[in-house]
Amino acid sequence: MALSLLIFSLFLLHQPLSTTANIHHRPTLFRSQLISDSTDPPLTNYFEVTKPIKLPDTKPCSNLVLNHEFGYTYGKPPVLANYTPPSNCPSHNFSKIVLQWTATCKGRQFDRIFGIWLGGVELLRSCTAEPRRTGIDWTVKKDVSKYYSLLMTNQTLAVYLGNLVDATYTGVYSVNLTFHFYPAQEVHSSNSVNGYSYESNLGDWVNGFGPGADLILPISRNLPLNDGLWFEIQNSDDLQSKMFDIPQNAYRAVLEVYVSFHEKDEFWYTNVPDEYIDANNLTDLPGNGAFREVVVSLDGMTVGAVWPFTVIYTGGVNPLLWRPISGIGSFDLPSYDIEITPFLGMILDGKTHKFGFSVTNALNVWYIDANLHVWLDKKSVKTEGKLLRHNSLPPVITSVTNFTGLNGNFLTTATRSVSSIGWVRSSHGKITTNSTQSFNYSNFMVMGKDGNLQIVNQIIDFNDTVYANAPSSPTYSIKSFKRFPLYLYSDNVDQGNKTYSSVANLTLGFNEERVRAGDFGFLVSSLKNLQDGQGVMLVKGNLVVSGLGSTQQAYQYDGSELCYFRNVKSSNYTVLYDKEGNSCSKKFQPHQRSGFAKWWPFPARRAFLGSDIRNNKNRH
Ligand SMILES: *[C@@H]1O[C@H](CO)[C@@H](O)[C@H](O)[C@H]1NC(C)=O
Ligand SMILES: *[C@@H]1O[C@H](CO)[C@@H](O)[C@H](O)[C@H]1NC(C)=O
Ligand SMILES: *[C@@H]1O[C@H](CO)[C@@H](O)[C@H](O)[C@H]1NC(C)=O
Ligand SMILES: *[C@@H]1O[C@H](CO)[C@@H](O)[C@H](O)[C@H]1NC(C)=O
Ligand SMILES: *[C@@H]1O[C@H](CO)[C@@H](O)[C@H](O)[C@H]1NC(C)=O
Ligand SMILES: *[C@@H]1O[C@H](CO)[C@@H](O)[C@H](O)[C@H]1NC(C)=O
Ligand SMILES: *[C@@H]1O[C@H](CO)[C@@H](O)[C@H](O)[C@H]1NC(C)=O
Ligand SMILES: *[C@@H]1O[C@H](CO)[C@@H](O)[C@H](O)[C@H]1NC(C)=O
Ligand SMILES: *[C@@H]1O[C@H](CO)[C@@H](O)[C@H](O)[C@H]1NC(C)=O
Ligand SMILES: *[C@@H]1O[C@H](CO)[C@@H](O)[C@H](O)[C@H]1NC(C)=O
Ligand SMILES: *[C@@H]1O[C@H](CO)[C@@H](O)[C@H](O)[C@H]1NC(C)=O
Repeated sequence: MALSLLIFSLFLLHQPLSTTANIHHRPTLFRSQLISDSTDPPLTNYFEVTKPIKLPDTKPCSNLVLNHEFGYTYGKPPVLANYTPPSNCPSHNFSKIVLQWTATCKGRQFDRIFGIWLGGVELLRSCTAEPRRTGIDWTVKKDVSKYYSLLMTNQTLAVYLGNLVDATYTGVYSVNLTFHFYPAQEVHSSNSVNGYSYESNLGDWVNGFGPGADLILPISRNLPLNDGLWFEIQNSDDLQSKMFDIPQNAYRAVLEVYVSFHEKDEFWYTNVPDEYIDANNLTDLPGNGAFREVVVSLDGMTVGAVWPFTVIYTGGVNPLLWRPISGIGSFDLPSYDIEITPFLGMILDGKTHKFGFSVTNALNVWYIDANLHVWLDKKSVKTEGKLLRHNSLPPVITSVTNFTGLNGNFLTTATRSVSSIGWVRSSHGKITTNSTQSFNYSNFMVMGKDGNLQIVNQIIDFNDTVYANAPSSPTYSIKSFKRFPLYLYSDNVDQGNKTYSSVANLTLGFNEERVRAGDFGFLVSSLKNLQDGQGVMLVKGNLVVSGLGSTQQAYQYDGSELCYFRNVKSSNYTVLYDKEGNSCSKKFQPHQRSGFAKWWPFPARRAFLGSDIRNNKNRH
């Protein structure tokens, strides 16, 4: 049969496929030892390009909470550890807390998804790097300060990384997990940002997410379990849910949703329409078309959606593209915030309520869970609220197919918006919140060469706006405009003898503009993150026998706290150039930033601004 595999991944198959597996399945094995073994360096360092974490000038207290070898862990319970906040640190006021994952691996292994949970709250969703015979290492650092209240309590830490080890898949992931606690700087010695006196006002409310919620509730599965704490969504009818209740003095709530897609939906944006599958009697090509969305409901009412960024894991498309530069988001998958405040009136009754998750058009399998960040009114035991208006029409999806046999093209577009308005009365006053998400999606797919060629052009626009109004204060707003472009060209040529060659070119972008408005005008942060990759490989059976991958990445982040750029290129495991720096892009001028300094970055929690003389002596 002419139709060849469209995309490859080494990712997360439940069982390794045999080398004679039908190539319509996604091949699983990559013979890394066949490529450049003789000259492999002793240890290759893999990395994802991202901005550095801005740290205070204080010496961190660091706790190694887990040191573990992930061997045959597939289908076994998560690895657990006791977590306690730092007890012998000279300071207990921290302005930054950083989670650090460091791992090494050697041999041959799949890319594996993993999750880290603290008290059931997910802190990091990530994917492992694929090892070489001579070994690799990589480090992921994540600013977890927004989980502050949780991090100050004793908890159980859980890590699930489902790995398989046998004679073929030899790689064992050796992992250290460390938390670094950075004491707050003394208020008067710090810059104007930290010196800003942070009053309890509407701006405080709006910016609340930076300093951290008072309570963070897990909307995930409970231990004990034989796999991750995420819910597994198996198909488009699958609705997974979790009961929860919140304290009756909450005045703000935000649901942070973690999402990853696997197996038949790992490359959902390349999935073809069922019409094409049926007409061609195809049996093992994943279908349901190329549109997906995660829908979040509260007591059955749709409160928001996530049109996810197309993370490509380290075995995806052509694994040689991701050595050593990893795909955007692959080491730290993005999470998505949904404003729940307008709905608080529905759930402040002290009773139990339900969050539900589903995925439109889903095929097996999506891993989804969430964290509910809740802010409590310290000056009252009971707040009240009311939902005033709510609009959530289902997405408008259009699909135009035009094909003859295995050749043709498909255009899929979709739009949607979800909006809600509600008020909450607390000691902060009666604050009316209106929140709107709006989405736009288009996917143009070409199938050629009897199904051996596939070209996908996709754009997702994902806008979020939250306004907060109180009678005596100006209106505050938080807006985020996200755009995720994707271009994928994939051409497979049958070479006979169960061998074929593959060419794959890729462009992947994550762009986000953030705008805030309030007393002091507006401020902006902007991220442009673009990867281009070109890969060729020769595949026999399902072994990659030779190949070459090259990746270029241009990263530019502008914010008042920091500007950062990095331009880097790798090819055949080697970094060819790597430039980085702190200059801002032209449109983001320093004089523009100074006006924002009071608001950006989020000041440390008000309580942490106090001086800590002892600790200042320990600065490095
Ligand atoms: C990749 O680099 C190795 C040396 O590390 C070299 O032997 C091999 O020929 C290179 N492959 C290609 C396709 O350039
Ligand atoms: C983990 O930490 C231990 C003790 O500090 C160290 O010996 C080991 O090399 C570390 N492993 C990794 C993967 O960083
Ligand atoms: C937290 O755990 C530590 C170490 O086990 C223990 O000494 C402490 O009492 C615990 N704190 C609470 C509040 O349970
Ligand atoms: C699909 O199968 C049906 C029934 O077996 C057959 O009539 C039809 O010709 C097949 N179509 C293709 C494109 O193979
Ligand atoms: C359908 O695809 C064919 C071949 O690509 C093209 O020539 C034709 O114009 C397309 N028709 C429509 C209605 O898009
Ligand atoms: C939300 O609030 C903003 C600012 O007050 C206002 O411009 C916008 O029209 C409101 N949206 C709705 C749907 O009322
Ligand atoms: C998102 O916001 C941008 C900027 O205001 C606008 O151009 C675009 O049309 C919006 N997209 C959607 C889907 O609302
Ligand atoms: C949505 O995208 C299409 C093109 O893909 C564009 O024509 C349309 O204006 C966009 N709509 C919004 C609201 O951005
Ligand atoms: C086909 O593959 C077999 C087994 O790998 C090998 O022995 C044979 O030489 C190959 N034939 C051709 C024409 O490449
Ligand atoms: C794929 O990338 C290579 C290298 O940049 C380029 O020469 C080739 O034209 C690209 N092919 C397509 C179809 O984009
Ligand atoms: C933290 O800082 C606050 C505000 O300056 C201060 O009142 C408090 O005592 C500090 N707490 C600790 C444990 O140092």
